[in-house]
Amino acid sequence: MQTFEGQTALITGGARGIGFAVARQLAEQGAHIAIGDLDVDQMKIAKGQLETYGAKALCVSLDVSSSQQCDAAVEAASAFGGGKLDILVHSAGIGLERAFLDTSDEEWARMMDVDLSGAFYCCRAAGRKMKSAGYGRIVTIASTAGVAGGTGRAAYGSAKSGVIMLTRVLAVELATYGVTVNALAPGAIETDLVAKMHSETTRLVYRRAIPADRYGTPEEVAAAAVFLCSPAAAYVNGHVLAVDGGFLAAGVLHKE
Ligand SMILES: NC(=O)c1ccc[n+]([C@@H]2O[C@H](COP(=O)([O-])OP(=O)(O)OC[C@H]3O[C@@H](n4cnc5c(N)ncnc54)[C@H](O)[C@@H]3O)[C@@H](O)[C@H]2O)c1
Repeated sequence: MQTFEGQTALITGGARGIGFAVARQLAEQGAHIAIGDLDVDQMKIAKGQLETYGAKALCVSLDVSSSQQCDAAVEAASAFGGGKLDILVHSAGIGLERAFLDTSDEEWARMMDVDLSGAFYCCRAAGRKMKSAGYGRIVTIASTAGVAGGTGRAAYGSAKSGVIMLTRVLAVELATYGVTVNALAPGAIETDLVAKMHSETTRLVYRRAIPADRYGTPEEVAAAAVFLCSPAAAYVNGHVLAVDGGFLAAGVLHKE
């Protein structure tokens, strides 16, 4: 029997990048997948790819900055799962590299709406469903930028730091319902988001600070998410797992 047979997962931001890698790995291990994403065209392509693994897949058009749309996406995913939702991986998010003094009100507000409020709305809707079922796994995708104070990450890092605290409080409040809530803190991962956000200088600075001396892959982040989503991870709760090639652990770091 496959690990996730009979289970249904909602993956926000699942059309591409880290979210899609999670969707694919869960599908390979037997889960049915609902993807919630803004990008409807890319979502359809992702759905087709998931179906090649024998998974049932559903696309839900979703803007996570809307509380109503998050509630509706969880309802749709749960109906697709025969009335239950076992897993939420909340990967939808946007990035911003902007010096603190140059960050506009609009950029700050957008980052909070999408990256922090989006996590709150999706986790709340999923948590309510999971509470009534007495089982659930929630994984939020935070960032090393929510742990360490990187240059240009006043808005992004503050939102991701909020996601980490949200994760911890939910872990405490939902534990009694059989629901675990954990966060991943990816470092630099090769995705479309990073292609837009990281200049050549940023890439150079990152490489110097990463003991593994390379960017990570979406698949490497997904493997960690899949563990946290599994029934076997029942006693892992409120944890923030860095998937960062050693970035957060490093102090003195000699490199050629
Ligand atoms: N790539 C990295 O290096 C990295 C590092 C740390 C954390 N993260 C986080 O991981 C998550 C996924 O990042 P990624 O690199 O896969 O990004 P990506 O840009 O490749 O994919 C993000 C997906 O989210 C969707 N999305 C964006 N805004 C949305 C909204 N308002 N509602 C619904 N969907 C929306 C996009 O359409 C896209 O499909 C994000 O939360 C990001 O902050 C990424």
